[in-house]
Amino acid sequence: MVGNKINRVVLVGTGAVGCSYAYAMINQGIAEELVLVDVNAAKAEGEAMDLNHGVPFAPSPTKVWSGSYKECKNADLVVITAGLPQKPGETRLDLVDKNANIFKTIVREIMDSGFDGIFLIASNPVDILTYVTWKESGLPKERVLGSGTTLDTARLRYMVGEYLEVDTRNVHAAIIGEHGDTEFAVWSQASIGIETLDKVIERRNNPEDRAKLDEIFVNVRDAAYHVIERKGATYYAIGMALARVTKAILGNENSILTVSSLLEGQYGHEDMYIGVPAVVNRGGVREVIEIDLNEEEKAKFDHSAKVLKEFINKIYS
Ligand code: NAI
Ligand code: LAC
Repeated sequence: MVGNKINRVVLVGTGAVGCSYAYAMINQGIAEELVLVDVNAAKAEGEAMDLNHGVPFAPSPTKVWSGSYKECKNADLVVITAGLPQKPGETRLDLVDKNANIFKTIVREIMDSGFDGIFLIASNPVDILTYVTWKESGLPKERVLGSGTTLDTARLRYMVGEYLEVDTRNVHAAIIGEHGDTEFAVWSQASIGIETLDKVIERRNNPEDRAKLDEIFVNVRDAAYHVIERKGATYYAIGMALARVTKAILGNENSILTVSSLLEGQYGHEDMYIGVPAVVNRGGVREVIEIDLNEEEKAKFDHSAKVLKEFINKIYS
């Protein structure tokens, strides 16, 4: 609760990702109200029933119900996880045509309700669909953000933590760029605890470290393919990532997270959404942080931005 105001989150899309998010939200008691909306109304209703039955075990109560777009009017945050997921072998960008069309309809319905809050987007390709949401909603850029590379950054922190045998929360490293095949790790700025990663590697004096870190990056970049090949979809970790971003917003945390944000000249690009470190609070994205990239990283960022821009131009030519 902020002041006396009840926090209401509307979740659109009660599939695997949406329900993992709802489950994480309830287990952490992040919002007072969680409204579930899906084109499959019975599914949303069943999920609300099941989640409500778990509320007595939660740290604080969340009121959950299945509703309609009308209920977005009083929402602080609308989270969209609706749309098609990848099939084995498909890239996120392969989903663009179908999901962009679904989004145009959904965003129109939400705005027709009188919604005036913040949008958090997770459906893929997330950077493109966040841009579509911004364009179609007409809301200020601060109030439209995507999950970006928050999940990829978590994957990187987990794998580096495992390799170096340190708490993953002490791994300060990030993946930025497209949430997809052109993303990259900003190794030049990484640190472990309060020591730079370069210094840690020097001290360890293990000739394998650099190659291992490169291998870790490839595993992070391709993680979704590896999971989808085995279990058909990814959802728990993205559900937790979305809950983390939600907490930063509703709790006015000023947390630095690699969300998909609008660039207006930062990193030499504009008029596009892409995963970059940004300060997130009750107003959404307070500011995009422009970190120093080395030459190789800058070239990777430019490539990632170029790929996204081509897709945006196809939708809004
Ligand atoms: P899913 O198929 O389990 O669920 C999608 C849900 O959207 C279904 O319940 C469906 O009924 C609903 N839906 C479809 N059209 C709709 C409409 N017009 N209005 C309202 N609801 C509608 O898919 P899953 O696995 O939950 O994935 C959802 C999206 O999240 C996919 O695009 C997937 O690629 C993306 N995703 C994004 C991640 C990220 O890091 N940003 C991570 C994992 C998945
Ligand atoms: C992920 C999804 C598929 O797990 O975007 O990265």
